[in-house]
Amino acid sequence: MLRFIAVVMVVVVWASPAFAGDPAAPRQKELLYLLEQDCGSCHGLTRKGGLGPALLPRDIAEKPDEGLVDAILLGRPGTPMGPWNFEISEEEAFWLVRQLRNGKPAK
Ligand code: HEC
Repeated sequence: MLRFIAVVMVVVVWASPAFAGDPAAPRQKELLYLLEQDCGSCHGLTRKGGLGPALLPRDIAEKPDEGLVDAILLGRPGTPMGPWNFEISEEEAFWLVRQLRNGKPAK
């Protein structure tokens, strides 16, 4: 019986979207909208840069995920880049960085 419960728990945890690391589909939409509108106001609607640096795949290719995620969550003190951890979780920030690396759906 205990083994059965353990197996069920493993399956439930493994199958849950939160554990898989990707935000749920509706949240992905929200995040992409935020990326375009809010982040885009400084980084450009097409991520080619503006007040903030360009965030196209080639611009961040050499930069590790952790540094970019930190910039998103904690901001860069002393620059216009503010912290977003009030609205973006760590998993979501990693997911956003993956979207930036894919270059999609930047127009
Ligand atoms: C008010 C303007 C502004 C907004 C809004 C903004 N950023 Fe930034 N961002 C900047 C600036 C300026 C920098 C460069 C900071 C520095 O000099 O290190 C930066 C840096 C970054 C970096 C690090 C880039 C690198 O090459 O190291 C990332 C990643 C980033 N922003 C992502 C985002 C995301 C995602 C959002 C939206 C959730 C966002 N930014 C919103 C201005 C902004």
